[in-house]
Amino acid sequence: MENNRKVTLTYNDGQNLDFPIMEGTLGPNVVDIRSFAKTGMFTFDPGFLATASCESKITFIDGDVGQLYYRGYPIEQLAEESDFLESCYLLLNGELPTAEQKAEFDRKIMRHNMIHDQLQNLYKGFRRDAHPMAVMVGVVGALSAFYHDSLDINDPHHREVSAHRLIAKVPTIAAQAYRYNKGLPFSYPRNDLTYAENFLHMMFSTPCEEYKVNKVLARALDRIFILHADHEQNASTSTVRLAGSSGANPFACIAAGIACLWGPSHGGANEAVLKMLDEIGSVENVPAFMEGVKAKTHKLMGFGHRVYKNMDPRAAIMKRTCDEVLNELGLHNDPKFKLAMALEKIALEDEYFIERKLYPNVDFYSGIVLSAIGIPVSMFTPIFALARTVGWISHWTEMIADPTMKIGRPRQLYTGAPRRDYVALADRK
Ligand code: SDX
Repeated sequence: MENNRKVTLTYNDGQNLDFPIMEGTLGPNVVDIRSFAKTGMFTFDPGFLATASCESKITFIDGDVGQLYYRGYPIEQLAEESDFLESCYLLLNGELPTAEQKAEFDRKIMRHNMIHDQLQNLYKGFRRDAHPMAVMVGVVGALSAFYHDSLDINDPHHREVSAHRLIAKVPTIAAQAYRYNKGLPFSYPRNDLTYAENFLHMMFSTPCEEYKVNKVLARALDRIFILHADHEQNASTSTVRLAGSSGANPFACIAAGIACLWGPSHGGANEAVLKMLDEIGSVENVPAFMEGVKAKTHKLMGFGHRVYKNMDPRAAIMKRTCDEVLNELGLHNDPKFKLAMALEKIALEDEYFIERKLYPNVDFYSGIVLSAIGIPVSMFTPIFALARTVGWISHWTEMIADPTMKIGRPRQLYTGAPRRDYVALADRK
């Protein structure tokens, strides 16, 4: 039974227990079930389809209408008007920076982008053909072995220094994972470039000639970083929160987030979309592919979302960015982009996808843009991780700064063997 302030559960033949209803600024109310264990039972929600794991002020998503706000600002406006470091400041601090605050923040970040020289040796421990995500999990986790001066998670200044170090260094770590894979010498970051320009420089410059950044591509990449910066309590952010709830240091928590993002159902989907487009090959093969999707032999990667039951607002912006980049590079007839648009059109008109509310998500077009910029498929998810680092560390900071924080420790429904006694080896059949 519900009135507008509480839900009453009747159980055990007539016992009643009230659960207060909590209201947020936007979005669904929640039922506060923290006292539910008094019933002698647990709630059951594998995959957390109906569970709010925390209270947060960082990002809001309305999956029914396809809205995404960072600290209340619509993603469409930030993608158009802001830049990635300004969006980082907003996610971390809750407000857009003044001109002075922005200049100071940009300066701070761009002066933390080098990594300890000994960390370069860590790359040599990996095979050259190691997936760059494996390298990123290892090297980001190893940062905690180098920055002992900012590991007191209860010190706000240490938290801020760690956040700045992570945002600044993850692009360097990602670019160096690419260069190590290619057998190229590492290229040092350049403080005179913007965050996205510097990433392209670290990825593609060579010591043999001056590297000229294409400003259109850098702007597109900066927008891609903004689109991937945060997304509420997704799987990898929830991983960072759970790891952080034990008091683990921020570098180890972000490494855990990178590990979770790697999965093809999450951040690994952009890489999977490109592989899917390669497998389909041409528009003629789409009907057969769609039959396989409906027979559930494979999924249409880059489609569907746990929260968005309408178009992912990021997908629409990504599609426009894709168009811009392909035109800039004279690739507007890019066969992969044409195949992706044909696939999207067919899916959006197909009853199977309509009744399941499956729409393109952020990963559907991002791989095509990144590919056009010259970024190899194996680097797509590292770029997603690079951009999401600010979201992860913002949620980590919000949680650690909350004095009511408790270690995350869910329970279970046990359906295993009942109690039984040990049987000696000689007596087993
Ligand atoms: C990201 O959470 C976030 O916010 C994540 C993210 C972020 O910014 O952090 O937005 C980034 O991870 C985007 C999602 C990228 N993943 C993919 O593109 C992989 C393909 N998508 C699916 O794996 C799936 O849609 C999920 C994992 C994204 C969501 O899965 P859900 O919410 O658990 O939905 P479901 O599996 O219960 O699907 C409901 C139905 C099922 O069919 P029925 O059993 O009802 O017949 O829809 C079907 C599913 O089989 N379905 C798909 C499908 N996705 C769901 N069928 C074909 N192709 C798909 N892509």
